[in-house]
Amino acid sequence: MALSTTDGNRLSDHLAKLGTYAQTELGYPCAFDIDYKLLAPFLSYSQNNIGDPFVEGGRYRLNSHEFEREVLEFFAELTHAPDGGWWGYVTNGGTEGNLYGMYLARELFPEGVVYFSQDSHYSVAKNLHFLGMKSIMIRTQANGEMDYDDLKEAIKMRREVTPIIFANIGTTMKEGRDDLQVIRSILDDLAMERRYIHSDAALCGGYAAFLEPRPSWDFSDGADSIAISGHKFFASPIPCGIVLARKAHVERISHAVSYIGTRDTTISGSRDGFSPILLWHAIKSLGVDGMKKRLHKAMAMADYTQLRFQEVGIEARRNAGALTVVIPMPPAEVCTKWQLATSGDISHVICMPHVTKEQIDALVDDIVAARDPTGNAQNTPSYVA
Ligand SMILES: Cc1ncc(COP(=O)(O)O)c(C=O)c1O
Repeated sequence: MALSTTDGNRLSDHLAKLGTYAQTELGYPCAFDIDYKLLAPFLSYSQNNIGDPFVEGGRYRLNSHEFEREVLEFFAELTHAPDGGWWGYVTNGGTEGNLYGMYLARELFPEGVVYFSQDSHYSVAKNLHFLGMKSIMIRTQANGEMDYDDLKEAIKMRREVTPIIFANIGTTMKEGRDDLQVIRSILDDLAMERRYIHSDAALCGGYAAFLEPRPSWDFSDGADSIAISGHKFFASPIPCGIVLARKAHVERISHAVSYIGTRDTTISGSRDGFSPILLWHAIKSLGVDGMKKRLHKAMAMADYTQLRFQEVGIEARRNAGALTVVIPMPPAEVCTKWQLATSGDISHVICMPHVTKEQIDALVDDIVAARDPTGNAQNTPSYVA
């Protein structure tokens, strides 16, 4: 069963490469600062959380449902989910959570139209295509937030159909946050009583609850479902996420399946039982205070990053309470080295809690060094906060 020396070396090389790449990763919202090695013994078991985490008695016993429920309870509290009136599960990531939210919306309002902004994650249009849902793309403001006038006009033109609002609580490139209270007041003004609001809080759901002023994004602000990624702010080494929804909505779609001996309420059948333990470990070891500390550290690094760029004449923009610093697209070799995502003529640095001043300084030095002799390699950014 042992690997050949050649194959063993390949894995060692790969491990070393990951260590190197982790040092030069500033463009994606993955935190690396939580040590999960303690949980390695759980890899000896095939934990499968198939079925509904709240229904005991499924036939397969190697699961972590009890940890999954505690993780969900933590997030339900954080998102002001109605007492006894919510349900959720640990997903494979934000994309699945968003798919689930839209699936619920479609089951409730098969004739509904989804309104989502042009700065939404690329997976949103794909999810809507899977579900065969009608949708309208809404313009965004320069800071990535939805253009509410455009939303209002679009809904007004289709008053006979139920609006399903796909709100971004942190867009992928600019971390723009749509405001649920503004969205609700638009729906109220237009007397649209039948409605559904989903919050895509892939990144910001990890810390929106700790921001002051508190963004308008959760169940108390009118969300019907919320998706959060677990490998972003919570640093899970395995992609995962959390989806929460109002219980009454979920009851419309669940049904019992005798093969697994439980309710079929989730999108995937077999589900990873290890990631709920990772999330549980993060929650228990850090607590809310530890998470707030990580957030404050990361915010301070985002302040530092913005300042450092500005010091060398690079226009660096950032939404209030955001970890994402938006810059004009640096030269290609810099984007490759630092793994910076780009879109149009912009790029960004995401200051996750593990990011250091040394990394930011080295990136700034690289951009300055890559400028042409006139010092003009930067494009003019299209983003003005
Ligand atoms: C706004 C937004 N929504 C959804 C996703 C997809 O999340 P995941 O990668 O966890 O599937 C992302 C990923 O970056 C995102 O930025």
